[in-house]
Amino acid sequence: MAIKALRGMKDILPPISKKYIAFIQKASHIAQNYSHEYIEPPLLEETVLFRRSVGESSDIVGKEMYQFIDKGGNDVCLRPEGTAGVVRSFIEHKLDRQGGVHRFYYYGPMFRYERPQKGRLREFHQFGVESFGEASVYEDASIILLAKEILDSFHICYELKINSLGCPQCLPSYRKKLIDFLSSKEDICEDCKKRRETNPIRVLDCKNAHCQEIYVNAPKLLEHLCDECNRDFSQLQEILQSEGVAFTIDENLVRGLDYYTKTAFEFVSSDLGAQNAVAGGGRYDNLVEFLGGRPTPAVGFAIGIERVLELIQLDENKREGFYFGVMIAEAIESAFSLTIKKRKQEKVYFEPKPKSLKAHLKAADKQKARYACIIGEEEYQNGTVWIKDLEQKSEKVVTFEEFMGIQ
Ligand code: HAM
Repeated sequence: MAIKALRGMKDILPPISKKYIAFIQKASHIAQNYSHEYIEPPLLEETVLFRRSVGESSDIVGKEMYQFIDKGGNDVCLRPEGTAGVVRSFIEHKLDRQGGVHRFYYYGPMFRYERPQKGRLREFHQFGVESFGEASVYEDASIILLAKEILDSFHICYELKINSLGCPQCLPSYRKKLIDFLSSKEDICEDCKKRRETNPIRVLDCKNAHCQEIYVNAPKLLEHLCDECNRDFSQLQEILQSEGVAFTIDENLVRGLDYYTKTAFEFVSSDLGAQNAVAGGGRYDNLVEFLGGRPTPAVGFAIGIERVLELIQLDENKREGFYFGVMIAEAIESAFSLTIKKRKQEKVYFEPKPKSLKAHLKAADKQKARYACIIGEEEYQNGTVWIKDLEQKSEKVVTFEEFMGIQ
């Protein structure tokens, strides 16, 4: 039987791969404009890294890890997300002791053993950014604006949702109140009953309609924030407003990973169906210390690249580069050598088989080339190239030297 890719894992082939590369290039450029530098941690890490950071009670760690014991007896897993590895690297390379601000971006595959469906894969790709060492709420705003700018540059429609998840000052007393509220609710779903024991705040984003009816009366986290969290959350809203960024406050936005404090946000798109989160992130001021580093405030996000690619329309009809072909075998050498020179500046598709003009024009059109460049009998004798501009529909004959100058 033919061997196929595993369930929930997809090959990225043309023409999608073209969008993938275009996305990575533009997103990297924008991240660099925001002072982020590239980092590439390994795909495989010790399982305990994710247990401690993403959290035992999260679905990602509890149910979805690609975990195994390697030949050396180490308990390892394929990374389900990017933040934990970047934090591990940040601490391991003692950047926490250097002080100052360190900003990174990364992209690549993540692995979660989820039930595959539209927009939900077992191997998917993220573009993520992380910022360490800056506690100012302007950094939260910068991070949100960075995500927004990437999505805007591809004309993606979305809604931005924000929330504050509090801090160790205010969260524990809220948790207690929420647990009291939940303790008498026996008709909540089985998942919520489990979460009530392990991570009660996560009940708030339960998708079950009956549970949501019950939680309308639950104590509200935003009403229990301490002064600092309140002040930061108000200031964040002011900054976003003054930058003209539209957002809604979603009190049920709790995120599926345990490390968040204060700001949490998601960009969702109604064009995507059930898996509507395009990007998510927030502040995680305690994680560096929790994993053994010096206390360091941090904030970041990750964009789901497959979900973004669903929403990106590249101009399919855009013509670019050159198509080079010959009508007689004797001309191949000159055509090939011109192609190699031209490729130092431009994309050139080379056709080594002599063909009729009609066949070449058809092939050049299929390649979406801007220029079809052909050497026939006459051009060969005169040392020239016949060129058709397939966009302007004009044609001319040029010398080899003139050909090199065409852009
Ligand atoms: P996350 O919300 O778990 O956050 O994932 C970020 C994005 O990855 C989601 O919004 C979604 O677009 C995409 N995604 C997640 N799971 C899948 C899947 N199974 N199939 C396809 N796409 C998926 C994080 O991973 C955090 N590390 C983000 C972060 C960085 N927070 C702070 N810094």
